[in-house]
Amino acid sequence: MKKYSDRELIAFGLDPKRIPKHVAIIMDGNGRWATAKGLPRAAGHRAGVNALKDIIRFTSDVGVESLTLYAFSTENRKRPKDEIGILCGLLIEYFNREIDELHENGVRIKSIGDLSWFPMAVQETVRAAEKKTADNPGLKLNIALNYGGRAELLRAMKLAFSESAEPNETAISRFLYTADSGDVDLLIRTGGEARVSNFLLWQIAYAELYFTDVKWPNFTREELIKALRDFAGRDRRYGGLKPNGAK
Ligand code: IPE
Ligand code: IPE
Ligand code: MG
Repeated sequence: MKKYSDRELIAFGLDPKRIPKHVAIIMDGNGRWATAKGLPRAAGHRAGVNALKDIIRFTSDVGVESLTLYAFSTENRKRPKDEIGILCGLLIEYFNREIDELHENGVRIKSIGDLSWFPMAVQETVRAAEKKTADNPGLKLNIALNYGGRAELLRAMKLAFSESAEPNETAISRFLYTADSGDVDLLIRTGGEARVSNFLLWQIAYAELYFTDVKWPNFTREELIKALRDFAGRDRRYGGLKPNGAK
């Protein structure tokens, strides 16, 4: 929930009128972060999980309404079994450790993607976190788990067509996992790659894209502030023209 006053936001170098409503992050670079330090990839994933706390907190405190995090893609199922096992373990550990604080801060947790693929222990942990926080009024935190943008779209289209033979864009949007968060305003990808890797394909149609070489474990609130400042400086025209005299 928004904590900072406009004056405080300005002190961070942020424009209170240009805080994105919906931020999405492709949290990439954990493995390379670890390898560069001579550590196993698992250490990178652990460091990546530790980076979450401050980013979620700060996102909420500056008044972003929705934060959608890419934690595990449908394509990540191709990874070695032991790495997947480590990620599942970290996920459970994370929720057990953080759920009370997230709840106290009014965060509403929702997983997006096909959770049924995961081991029962993961499903139960995530469902319990969703249930506990379902009525919270603060930051809408969507966590993409076994998520693929094309799979999401296919699902939404099937549901929309089952309702009407000629669904419109609004109808399809209603059946996306992120329906109540709306379109993405700012998409951040850490880790140096400039691609979207099957994330939120429909929702990023007019998102501002921000790519940084910083690897996810090193993505601090200072890095997030840079991204938010960059966003505030973008001229969002949506295909139209700048209104006369607009800055
Ligand atoms: C992102 O980090 C986390 C997941 C995809 C689960 P990576 O594991 O992709 O890290 P790199 O890209 O190999 O450095
Ligand atoms: C994207 O990262 C998925 C997540 C961050 C969860 P990847 O590391 O899987 O993406 P690619 O393989 O580089 O496209
Ligand atoms: Mg990667």
